[in-house]
Amino acid sequence: MTQDQLKQAVAQAAVDYIAPHLTWESIIGVGTGSTANCFIDALAKIKHTFGAAVASSEATATRLKSHGINVLELNAVPHMSFYVDGADESDIHLNLIKGGGGALTREKIVAAVAETFVCIADESKLVGVLGAFPLPVEVIPMARSYVARKLVGLGGEPVWRQGFVTDNGNLILDLYGMDIVDPKDLEQQINQLTGVVTNGLFAHRPADILFLGTGDGVKTLTS
Ligand code: A5P
Repeated sequence: MTQDQLKQAVAQAAVDYIAPHLTWESIIGVGTGSTANCFIDALAKIKHTFGAAVASSEATATRLKSHGINVLELNAVPHMSFYVDGADESDIHLNLIKGGGGALTREKIVAAVAETFVCIADESKLVGVLGAFPLPVEVIPMARSYVARKLVGLGGEPVWRQGFVTDNGNLILDLYGMDIVDPKDLEQQINQLTGVVTNGLFAHRPADILFLGTGDGVKTLTS
């Protein structure tokens, strides 16, 4: 199977997982990236079975709307059963690194609201220890250099993602060279730095279930 077929398989697995729970009142949180795009395309086929979606990025909102799926602002949503999104890395406890596409802050906010976070990924994303993928950190523009110095102090090598501005008008520092043995602790330490909006570690709010696309079919991991 190609990587694309694996992404489509896990996207369909997520749709099959949530479909029995949906009613006309259901609001689904939707992530960002190529795997989330596969999910949106699969979700479109059952668009008459739920109420609306909340998007974690402008790109996702555009794709959802192109399928005729109603998109709501998160502030208008009192309850969300499911958030479905990809990941850049996951460990077996479903701690994640996200934000390769730069949408980490909105993704983290929508994931916080959802009762169940369903992660979908191909098998290349499952790792023993997080950190080979550079950890994205969203920063307020005027704090970029200050935060970068502090990240060096934590033992990493921050690299400014050139020419990229987040949907929130901020910058991304990609943090290389970290062996993240305690994801919760590092998530907290980085978030405490003044000028950091958030970082791409999802350890305080990990995924609840991971559909992992493998050559032997879709495997299910739970946290
Ligand atoms: C977007 O900011 C990211 O968190 C993505 O969810 C993550 O990078 C996974 O993307 P792919 O599905 O494209 O690998």
